[in-house]
Amino acid sequence: MQTGGVTSISQPIDLRETARVALARLDHSDVVIPKDRERAVARPPGPSRAQVWRRFISGDGAPWFMVEVERDYPTIAHMRVLGEHMYTLTSPEAIVEVFIGHGRDTMKGRGLQGTKAVLGNGLLTSEGEVHLRNRRLVQPAFHRDRIAGYSRDMVDITLIHEQSWDDGSALDMQVNMSALTLTIVGRTLFGSDLAGDAHEIGESLQGLMQGMGRYIMLGPRVLRIPTPLRRRALTSFARIDQIVQRIIDEHRIAGDTGDMLSMLIAAEEDGTGFDDAQVRDEAMTLILAGHETTAMTLTWTWMLLAQNPAVAEWLHEELDSVLAGRAPGMDDMGSLPRTRAVIAEAIRLYPPAWIQGRRMLSPTEVNGWTIPAGATTLISQFAMHRSPRWWNSSLTFMPQRWIDADGAFSEDAPGQPRGAWFPFGWGNRRCIGEQFAWTEATLVLATLAQRWRPELVPGADITVTPAVTLRSKGGMPMVLRRR
Ligand code: HEM
Repeated sequence: MQTGGVTSISQPIDLRETARVALARLDHSDVVIPKDRERAVARPPGPSRAQVWRRFISGDGAPWFMVEVERDYPTIAHMRVLGEHMYTLTSPEAIVEVFIGHGRDTMKGRGLQGTKAVLGNGLLTSEGEVHLRNRRLVQPAFHRDRIAGYSRDMVDITLIHEQSWDDGSALDMQVNMSALTLTIVGRTLFGSDLAGDAHEIGESLQGLMQGMGRYIMLGPRVLRIPTPLRRRALTSFARIDQIVQRIIDEHRIAGDTGDMLSMLIAAEEDGTGFDDAQVRDEAMTLILAGHETTAMTLTWTWMLLAQNPAVAEWLHEELDSVLAGRAPGMDDMGSLPRTRAVIAEAIRLYPPAWIQGRRMLSPTEVNGWTIPAGATTLISQFAMHRSPRWWNSSLTFMPQRWIDADGAFSEDAPGQPRGAWFPFGWGNRRCIGEQFAWTEATLVLATLAQRWRPELVPGADITVTPAVTLRSKGGMPMVLRRR
């Protein structure tokens, strides 16, 4: 159905066509991927295939398995994962050497490449020259001045969102924070257009994220085998695709509305900009990468504050003295070190991006071992951020560790080595939304924690599950308490 030249979201979904489009996106590659054929190469010790299958591939234990690998193999470990050779790096030096020193000689791992079915060839998934050009075109949307502009929307939206909170109400904080950050990314990326679709996008994304962990582990074969998982995944792909395409069509008709999507449509280098497919891929990437990660950061933050009332008190002291009931703004960021420290500590213990993989494009030496071209290196934020080798009281929620001698927030304050802290990744592929995320998480927490002290529902079963991001399997059931 067409409405004023714009595709309506109520189009019927053709699963076969959706699968064809998704699989075609997967076939796209900007670099030649070498095959790991060097069968005779000596490989470092590591967990057995049975352990890998039981602990890494099936079930929800993969993050905890990476903690054990980091403990048992202190520099590098080899493991065979669904036929692929994978090398897990567990020393900060090795991580820096490969991800920064050889960063440009790598490409994204199989898991992230699998997300091309949804994200296409956007900033997160593209490689080589295409990625560099995309990054240059998208970068202006994340300039400091633009973020200052978005910060006003972030606070306004949070204040409106807060009106739906009632003292004593029970809610799933994971769903609630996802709805909030989706609205924020919708306003900053798409202007106000998303408001009417937020519910539909939210539902589809929840379905997508829940199925995505399995999808990433098992790979694109999931799209070929007719199962309920395939049906759910494809229905979610198709719904989100339709909505994003409709919004892009509306923007093209309306002209520049001053938001991020207008910038993407207008972006140009040497006389050429993004074509329709690229605008779609970048928009989809920014919606997904831009709301889920921050939503999970805030979700785990609320859980940790509920479990640690003394820390919540310490945070409230700052909010009461600096803000005294008024809404925060960009200018307050430097005066809220405790708020930032609480977020940093939540990201340390529950990093939304909990693992990263890279396919090596040429052979690379690590600690006397050769990682062959075509093999994959893995690093896990979850494991490195929790290691007692680099962090005092590593499993204790202790935001004070991020405050330096002058009382300021500092990412260096805990004294951890470079390579033991990388929530936003590394080098040329470092998160483009890092400052957006810090600003959003700080302002949302400062706004809401001034007046609210959510409590965990007694007996709630909180199980970490490795989806694209680190989620809680059964959500985050909480009861709202007004301070
Ligand atoms: C706490 C919040 C966030 C965390 C922990 C996070 C983490 C990461 C990590 C680890 C990467 C690197 C992935 C890799 O190298 O394989 C990444 C890349 C990326 N992130 Fe974020 N992110 C967050 C928020 C955001 C936000 C708010 C946006 C956008 C509004 C965003 C957009 C992106 C994009 C587009 C990339 C790809 C960059 C490139 O390859 O050039 N992220 N993020």
